[in-house]
Amino acid sequence: MSTTTIAPAIAQRKKMTMLAFRQKKERGEPLTMLTAYDYPTALALDQAGIDSILVGDSLAMVELGYENTLPVTMEEMLHHARAVARGAKSALLIGDLPFMSYQVSIEEALRNAGRFIQQANMDAVKLEGGRERAETVRAIVGAGIPVMGHLGLTPQSIHQLGGFRPQGKTASAAVRLLEDAQILEEAGAFALVLESIPARLASAISKKISIPTIGIGAGAGCDGQVLVTHDLLGLFERFTPKFVKRYANLHETMRKAFTEYIDDVETKKFPALEHTVEMTDAEWDAFLNETK
Ligand code: KIV
Repeated sequence: MSTTTIAPAIAQRKKMTMLAFRQKKERGEPLTMLTAYDYPTALALDQAGIDSILVGDSLAMVELGYENTLPVTMEEMLHHARAVARGAKSALLIGDLPFMSYQVSIEEALRNAGRFIQQANMDAVKLEGGRERAETVRAIVGAGIPVMGHLGLTPQSIHQLGGFRPQGKTASAAVRLLEDAQILEEAGAFALVLESIPARLASAISKKISIPTIGIGAGAGCDGQVLVTHDLLGLFERFTPKFVKRYANLHETMRKAFTEYIDDVETKKFPALEHTVEMTDAEWDAFLNETK
């Protein structure tokens, strides 16, 4: 008897589109987004009914172990984006343009945005920055590629910002952020991530622009919410930002499972009979005869 288990088929949802994204804002329905960097996570998120999956450059920190997001390359992002696209068929898939993939020139930005669509089956790209990126956003959108903006705490500018710290806390910084949001909307961005800014500012921005805002550490007044999945699952043990709600402690679950496995192997409890392949006595006797 085979002990192989096969997961039951789950009915596939309709593919989330840019239009449906916008309509959810218009109907006042919260948008849900989480990050993924691999096939099994993308599959689970898709089956759970997530609206959108971001293949974020947070990959650098939570999956590849770097100190910040700066070292991750376009090739690494594409590699992980392809795995995500193989797992998620319904969620809107967004590839995060990594540091230096769009800042050098508009031509390079266009080429790299195109690679996410052509080589990794993403539906859209995300990039960080405000007014200084307006022309880049316009060019990518002009090529038919939807762009999500990212304002507030923009980790690719960590050295300029002086660390992972909240943004937009003074009146003048808040005005600038609102202007940036309006400029990005005008440049054609289909949505904006607002990261680590005061809740009432995020709420005001969300009301003043017609494209959806997706908040992370930006309060409940945004049109949707995003978290880094490893933070939500308790898989990233280095630090947990204040704005994260933990839904599991998978680091601990993994550590416990690995310890049990090591113990089972060392005490010969694993593999047991049910994990073992057998052959008939007749075949075994024939083998013994042939190898005498
Ligand atoms: O890279 C990322 O995961 C992100 C989210 C924090 C929005 O940009």
